[in-house]
Amino acid sequence: MRAAAADLTAAGVDDAALEAEVILRHVLGLDRAQLYACLGDEIAPPARSAFEDLLARRLCREPAAYITGRREFYGIEFEVSPAAPIPRPETELLVDEALAQARRLEPTYPEPHIADVGTGCGAIALAVATHLPSARVTATDVSPAALELARCNAARLGLSDRLRFVHGDLLSPLDHYARREAADIIAANLPYVPSSEWDRLAPEIRCYEPRAALDGGPDGLRLIERLLRQAPGHLRPGGALILEIGYDQGPAVAGLARQAFPGGAVAVRQDLAGLDRVVVVET
Ligand SMILES: C[S@@+](CC[C@H](N)C(=O)[O-])C[C@H]1O[C@@H](n2cnc3c(N)ncnc32)[C@H](O)[C@@H]1O
Repeated sequence: MRAAAADLTAAGVDDAALEAEVILRHVLGLDRAQLYACLGDEIAPPARSAFEDLLARRLCREPAAYITGRREFYGIEFEVSPAAPIPRPETELLVDEALAQARRLEPTYPEPHIADVGTGCGAIALAVATHLPSARVTATDVSPAALELARCNAARLGLSDRLRFVHGDLLSPLDHYARREAADIIAANLPYVPSSEWDRLAPEIRCYEPRAALDGGPDGLRLIERLLRQAPGHLRPGGALILEIGYDQGPAVAGLARQAFPGGAVAVRQDLAGLDRVVVVET
């Protein structure tokens, strides 16, 4: 593990010791306490060779989550694959805001209908459904492969009966449902990286995550802007829209949100690093 960490550091990988440990634990099928309890044991040759194979992939900067096929988000273990981006810790703030909005709306909408637009592996939809047992969630994505992954995660977590997965562009898959199917809360972590920044991203992102799921066009706001135009027609009165944004997009997205919801209250929230990360619109 020490030798692997040194190799990973030399390859430019952050948190190399932890990354080496995560891969070794995956190979041995051990949790952290179990691994530390057997550090003095000799590793069997087949496990050693499996570890070396996976380490070689990480040295090529493939993300550990794609190598192990797992990533924890909001305390829940998700299956992940290159069909969708790996859920990020910053997105947990969006889930916090969605849960707070559900609490605010509870007197009016005790069984909220929540839409997760661009669900990817289902991280937001499933975190919200786990914490709101009375909620129904519609998850949309333009990628059929991402929707399939999200469906698998819903089944693994036993949440399939309260989730609906629909394929299509932004909120348009909801168009063919009746008006009473409007959402009480719309949450979206859409692509927002400006195209010009793509080449400067870490190899883990640039070479392995799906570009169409992260690249938001010339100013990064192409999809957010379109969603803001569609959202008023899909939200019930008093409902909320919650958007994840890039650290420098707060003023621009807040301005677009005020245009889309002239009577709404718009707020920009910061993540744990103090950076603008989420825009909340209470209509
Ligand atoms: C940044 S990822 C977020 C995934 C997940 N919600 C999360 O927070 O980890 C953006 C997702 O939006 C999807 N997407 C991109 N364009 C879309 C569109 N026009 N309509 C619906 N989904 C879209 C991508 O396929 C991708 O799964």
